[in-house]
Amino acid sequence: MSSRDIPLGTVVQAAIRQGLLPAWSPVAGLLDVQGIRAATTSLRAAFEEAGAARDTTLHAFAVKAAALVPVLRLLAGEGLGAEVASPGELALARAARVAPERIVLDSPAKTTAELREALALGVAVNADSREELARLDGLLREAAGPPRSSLGVRVNPQVGGGTIDALSTATDTSKFGVALRDEGARAWLVRAFAERPWLSRLHAHVGSQGCPLELMAAGVRATYELAEEINRAVGRRQVTTLDIGGGLPVNFASDDVTPTFRAYARLLADAAPGLFDGRYGLVTEFGRSLLAKSGVVLARVEYTKTAGGRRIAVTHAGAQVAVRTVFAPASWPLRVAVFDAQGRPKTGPPVDQDIAGPCCFAGDLVAVGRPLPLLEAGDHVALLDTGAYYFSNHYAYNSLPRPGVYGYASAEEESDGVRFATVRAPQTLGELVAEGGGAYAAELSALR
Ligand SMILES: Cc1ncc(COP(=O)(O)O)c(C=O)c1O
Repeated sequence: MSSRDIPLGTVVQAAIRQGLLPAWSPVAGLLDVQGIRAATTSLRAAFEEAGAARDTTLHAFAVKAAALVPVLRLLAGEGLGAEVASPGELALARAARVAPERIVLDSPAKTTAELREALALGVAVNADSREELARLDGLLREAAGPPRSSLGVRVNPQVGGGTIDALSTATDTSKFGVALRDEGARAWLVRAFAERPWLSRLHAHVGSQGCPLELMAAGVRATYELAEEINRAVGRRQVTTLDIGGGLPVNFASDDVTPTFRAYARLLADAAPGLFDGRYGLVTEFGRSLLAKSGVVLARVEYTKTAGGRRIAVTHAGAQVAVRTVFAPASWPLRVAVFDAQGRPKTGPPVDQDIAGPCCFAGDLVAVGRPLPLLEAGDHVALLDTGAYYFSNHYAYNSLPRPGVYGYASAEEESDGVRFATVRAPQTLGELVAEGGGAYAAELSALR
């Protein structure tokens, strides 16, 4: 039996019995290890079926989706690399022992120090702008010999946006990459490569949740066509690798995994057949689609009340763990499953209820008017499909601590049938005080 076959109720009961939601820590993230492994297997298989060669394809997990060292180590063990977008994410990938040559650094704001470190380590870098490329020129002049890092340029194919503006990175005016359709940009890019034989990659990431697959494929096709143009112009195969970004959306409405990696890889093979004919290495940077379905936020119901005829369950899962859902609920609706104090699935006639969080602002609601069995104090709620970008992207409002995160798998030898491993311990109050400047308590008052 794989842990994907474990009913969530069994996992929740085991989590409660095994003390993962103690009185002082009433919210936790749970990750289905077998589900994560299965997602990586389907990613690799999908691209291989479409024609990608195993030894020249790097699936670099977007660390922003789950900035957790044990998760990165698990994924590395499954053959994945890491896409990082800050010194912190790079440090996490290195702590997970992801090999430098399997790390890709993307960020629109890399400092000189970050670039220097990436070059020293041999981490791949995608320059985001003309200015960043000029900075790389300077750093490479300082260094003796050719770079160890694979170096590329991020382009914005300007193919348009999806349904969520904030996650649409290929709009006309997006802040990311070199805007490919702007006047003179193509010619500039061809020249930039011709003048820099060490540039070997093109990168594009069209967007994330809310982008239709066809839009993403159009962006990849435009990037492929640019690579062909550059290679023709310089008269050699200088662009050797295409980094097609991530962005496969997640279905938050049901348990169905859709769209699939296979559907996307097939669409890419149709849109840009040359991508898979062996002339180009491939890098992908999926985040959400690898983890979302394998995670839940589990929280205790502290109180229930009625206001103006509306039922409200006040829980410990709010904006601190579900920031996007709370601030942009129309774009990020979540399903909620409910359990009793022991973790047994709750039954009963559906009653419209608001599921509120602990934060001190009125909008801290993860679901509004949701028909669910009537909740009582001591029950539990689970926010489904939250394995990516939720409990690993904490919002520090109200100094609510980062919750503990635990991986789980089926284990016949356990009386509950489930074994847990700590991914991250709950943040302690001492750590919170330190983060709030506890070490400098008297320094401000000493200023006159
Ligand atoms: C450059 C880049 N690559 C990959 C990703 C991961 O996207 P997703 O989690 O939607 O697959 C992002 C998300 O913001 C990104 O900006």
